[in-house]
Amino acid sequence: MPAGPPAAGREIRAREDRDTLRFLTCGSVDDGKSTLIGRLLYESRLVFQDELARLEADSKRHGTQGDDLDLALLVDGLQAEREQGITIDVAYRMFSTGRRAFIVADAPGHEQYTRNMATGASNADLAVVLIDARKGVLPQTCRHTTILALLGIRHVIVAVNKMDLVDWSREVYNGIVAAYGDFARRLDVTDVACIPVSALTGDNVTEPSAAMDWYDGPTLLQALEEADVSADREDAPFRLPVQWVNRPSAGFRGFAGTIASGSVRPGDAVVACPSNVPSTVRRIVGPDGDLDRAGAGQAVTLTLADEIDVSRGDILASAAEAPGLSDQFACHIVWMHENPLLPERPYRLKIGTRVVGAQVTAIKHKLNVHDLEHAAARTLELNDVAYCNIGLDRHIAFDPYKECRETGGFILIDRYSHDTVGAGMIEFGLWRGSNLTPHPLAIDKPARAAQKNQKACVLWLTGLSGAGKSATANAVERRLHAMGRHSYTLDGDNLRHGLTRDLGFTAADRVENVRRIAEVARLFADAGLMVLVSVISPFRDERRMAREMMEEGEFIEIFVDCPIEVCEQRDPKGLYRKARAGRIRNFTGVDSAYEPPEKPEIVLKTAEKSVDEVADQVIDYLARALDS
Ligand code: ADX
Repeated sequence: MPAGPPAAGREIRAREDRDTLRFLTCGSVDDGKSTLIGRLLYESRLVFQDELARLEADSKRHGTQGDDLDLALLVDGLQAEREQGITIDVAYRMFSTGRRAFIVADAPGHEQYTRNMATGASNADLAVVLIDARKGVLPQTCRHTTILALLGIRHVIVAVNKMDLVDWSREVYNGIVAAYGDFARRLDVTDVACIPVSALTGDNVTEPSAAMDWYDGPTLLQALEEADVSADREDAPFRLPVQWVNRPSAGFRGFAGTIASGSVRPGDAVVACPSNVPSTVRRIVGPDGDLDRAGAGQAVTLTLADEIDVSRGDILASAAEAPGLSDQFACHIVWMHENPLLPERPYRLKIGTRVVGAQVTAIKHKLNVHDLEHAAARTLELNDVAYCNIGLDRHIAFDPYKECRETGGFILIDRYSHDTVGAGMIEFGLWRGSNLTPHPLAIDKPARAAQKNQKACVLWLTGLSGAGKSATANAVERRLHAMGRHSYTLDGDNLRHGLTRDLGFTAADRVENVRRIAEVARLFADAGLMVLVSVISPFRDERRMAREMMEEGEFIEIFVDCPIEVCEQRDPKGLYRKARAGRIRNFTGVDSAYEPPEKPEIVLKTAEKSVDEVADQVIDYLARALDS
């Protein structure tokens, strides 16, 4: 259907004084998604003039539509930008009609792009799910819908596209509507509207279709204009995650941030979380001065009646309906990275404006997003969705994600690369541990160590199998013993007969192996001992975790550095031979990674030096570091 050229220079701008709908499109280019978005933009006549000129030229050159404009190029152009890294993963486009402004998040649709979808969905109110009428409900459609449901998107418009290719068949359309409805009902997606369209010919996109007179519902654009998503954000309890503390002068101390949910007025009783200190709102300062009310989505600065301690990452909340407080949660996690999620590996967790340390303590089950079946899992791979328990290194204020996305949704961040590796949705807080109070011991570590006339420490020997860790530990401990020191050696091989006998050599098991051994090392150090740990501990994340469990200066990382060729030649247990023959799987250095330490306190070159020489090197280090 022909559409006139857009008005020159007209701006695509979402005006604040008008209702803006944020929506996400799910589907792949093959489903006609690019063409559909392109048509929405084009027919609402808000394509930039220069984009249009390029589009016309490109359509002639590369288009698949003869002399007609190829609207897909409009969106695919964005994809090219994305590939150049100009926009990452999710492209946002704005357009508006006389009735409403729209922000479209467009995420690439291939299976592996679940994470992009999750990113695009995280602040969307509604999703348009595209289905190719010839193909019907595909596994990908189910995957998208499951993730939408998890992300709390309650409004879905299903655009059954390419109706022109199925002869505008009402039966085909009805079949798809029924199949989709069956799946959506099993999730919490309650508001589903279906529309038969042809993005290519424009039928039912912005103009009603003459070819499908059996359909009397709205066009896609009408449905978008009329969708009522206003419901609950403002009725919810007041939450303001504090972005920064604004103190321009001694007389003014304001807490700035964007209201995540609910509304606030001067005089309202609030509570600072997690400290739970109450106060009253004195002023609400907006960009143009004081306000007598502010609501969800508004960026404001609050001042309080009392001088209370509030800092970045805290939440100011309604005192009558305060958020929960916990350090352990049941949650859904969408894994977004090529490196798997390993339970007990420390990650950073960002929730609202707060960043804390976090470990997934249990994967309860993985969710098959195609049929919603549950499956057992020990790790999560890219695009997996799972129900998990997670533990944090401190208490935080939170709401269930269903009640507030900002205070119930989080991302997980890798501690080294700073990549976002996962997204999570809190279901509820777990209370385990909250009724336990640490019992202060009468005799403390310094007292125990002083009695032994030494300082406690943890000598952590890491390196390949056969590098000489155990031999070095023995030689060092013999020297310490002769010097009258009190020590103990935790040897990986030995512990695998007891403490860690349920663990194998998968990455997940090694993480747990090292975690347990580090816990024991901490206890032994607390007993005032000099602890030697001899364990491959191949991953830097867990060695860092062990370091952070000890006191400053207590953890001494010793890299037993021996080339794998030498280890393999020595092969004291014949394991390299077996690994090369494929008789042992996940063997470190062969088919399982070893990440060398970056800044070890000591490096021992065991291929070049004797056991006695490297043991002396450790003793010399201790003499300098501990006795100074
Ligand atoms: S770690 O990787 O989890 O830190 P740990 O030091 O406890 O390993 O155990 C390593 C010892 O287990 C090795 O010294 C070796 O004797 C034995 N072993 C058996 N299978 C493997 C394997 N697949 N990879 C590494 N070591 C193995």
